[in-house]
Amino acid sequence: MPARDEWDPRRLPNQSGKVFLVTGGSRGIGYFAAEQLAGAGARVVIAARDEARARRAISAIERRIDGAEIGFLPLDLASPASVRAAGESVAEWERLDGVAANGAITWGPRRRQLTPEGLELTLATNHVGHFLLAATAWPALARTAGSRWVGMTSMATMFAPADASALNSDHDYSGGRAYALSKHAVQGFAWELNRRLRESGSSSIALAAHPGYSADGLTAARAGVTPRPPAFERWLAFGAQGKNHGATPLVRALTDPGARGGELYAPAWWVKGPPVPLTPRAASARPEFGRELWRLSERWAATEFRP
Ligand SMILES: NC(=O)c1ccc[n+]([C@@H]2O[C@H](COP(=O)([O-])OP(=O)(O)OC[C@H]3O[C@@H](n4cnc5c(N)ncnc54)[C@H](OP(=O)(O)O)[C@@H]3O)[C@@H](O)[C@H]2O)c1
Repeated sequence: MPARDEWDPRRLPNQSGKVFLVTGGSRGIGYFAAEQLAGAGARVVIAARDEARARRAISAIERRIDGAEIGFLPLDLASPASVRAAGESVAEWERLDGVAANGAITWGPRRRQLTPEGLELTLATNHVGHFLLAATAWPALARTAGSRWVGMTSMATMFAPADASALNSDHDYSGGRAYALSKHAVQGFAWELNRRLRESGSSSIALAAHPGYSADGLTAARAGVTPRPPAFERWLAFGAQGKNHGATPLVRALTDPGARGGELYAPAWWVKGPPVPLTPRAASARPEFGRELWRLSERWAATEFRP
């Protein structure tokens, strides 16, 4: 086992025999997380709403990694019916070692949009969809010793206070604020889930990860998967890192044998760098926030979740 400060993202522990689900694995950071996990020998299932895009991602991984085992699961995080169907099929799997809860709207729309269920779209996609996925897929994680749930959060949380009563953006909507609030919910859920897992004596853990600032313009090219942004985007992304590097905190949280529930994995120099474990300091790490978030999430997802 590598020492905690000697993690090399290019030399992951062998993941043969393990199964991971990556939401939003059809492109961006999720794609590279799927590629890195498959490269370490894991079976990976890409859960995505656009099947054609997901198939291009799967082909790209298969071209790079001999014998890669990659599957596809239809999942639209904004649609409770889609999430429920996906979660119920995952619940039947023999094992599930980890979920990368990565798929997201990465900035809320200019005007507040509601789902048919009356939820603000960014919150519904980034958090409520993942909460419902966890609740419905949990039997597979519960039957896999040491399984992990990793919520993909963002430094953007610093732009909005962690206020559970504000999460649905009923007042003062802006796309950036809705995104920041949704990420308080994503990370608060992971840490509250971990507290509940400890209380129930489960061997599963839950953690969060963030990718710093990971820009398309600096990302390693993958035919059919990565966009080719104009040159000025590379310039704008000065000081950032590519999405291939942005995936490494997520992948470390899923695979580091020394990872502990309740941690936050992030780039060493905050916006970029090798992935390191941190102790969360955000207000969304507090148990009071987690308890209220859980109560609201059960209502929003119309589902009880007792892990
Ligand atoms: N890039 C950064 O600097 C940065 C910084 C902080 C946090 N993050 C977080 O890291 C994660 C990945 O970001 P990224 O930069 O890779 O974003 P991205 O390139 O925009 O990819 C987002 C992924 O989420 C999927 N997605 C969006 N809405 C969905 C829905 N309703 N159902 C299912 N999948 C959906 C997208 O699928 P489609 O292809 O179907 O749209 C895509 O696969 C996100 O959680 C983001 O908030 C990123």
